[in-house]
Amino acid sequence: MSWRRYCADADATQAAGVDFAQLLRRGDVVLLTGTLGAGKTTFTQGVARGLGVRERVTSPTFTMVRQHQCHNERGVETLHHCDVYRVTSLGEVLDLALGELVEESGVALVEWGELAASLFGRDVLQVTFASDDADGRTLRVDGALAEDRREELDAWAR
Ligand SMILES: Nc1ncnc2c1ncn2[C@@H]1O[C@H](COP(=O)(O)OP(=O)(O)OP(=O)(O)O)[C@@H](O)[C@H]1O
Ligand SMILES: [Mg+2]
Repeated sequence: MSWRRYCADADATQAAGVDFAQLLRRGDVVLLTGTLGAGKTTFTQGVARGLGVRERVTSPTFTMVRQHQCHNERGVETLHHCDVYRVTSLGEVLDLALGELVEESGVALVEWGELAASLFGRDVLQVTFASDDADGRTLRVDGALAEDRREELDAWAR
């Protein structure tokens, strides 16, 4: 099963991220899939806002991962924001030990996550970004974890 939400502009994609943050729980890994400029970082900025991150969230393309302290009452302490676009071997991603990090303290959002999907197993959320001819993006959520969040995703989708 999958859920879709149309985002007419970048602000709408951020708002989709803010709302998506509400259904995240400690330990979640979210794989973000879409071409260059599809809106993965924009969406993550919204998720960060929804989790109560106070600092500016920028693209981790060159650093591979950035950690942001969250401020919320839901036990998500850290947002691990990754971008594996430049990764040349899966070992580099494995070394980040994201699965363990999120269990301890938070959630991970992984841009170009499909490139490293084999490392994370089935229990992930996936967000796929499709662009139309203009600024519009259609976000699709699926993944085994999504099935456990049906009611929340029903509310998220529009
Ligand atoms: N509906 C939309 N949603 C998101 N971004 C949009 C939208 N319409 C236009 N944009 C623009 O598209 C760009 C998206 O950039 P962003 O960095 O979020 O993409 P990305 O998927 O992270 O790219 P990359 O693969 O380079 O990391 C921004 O310049 C943003 O303003
Ligand atoms: Mg990006």
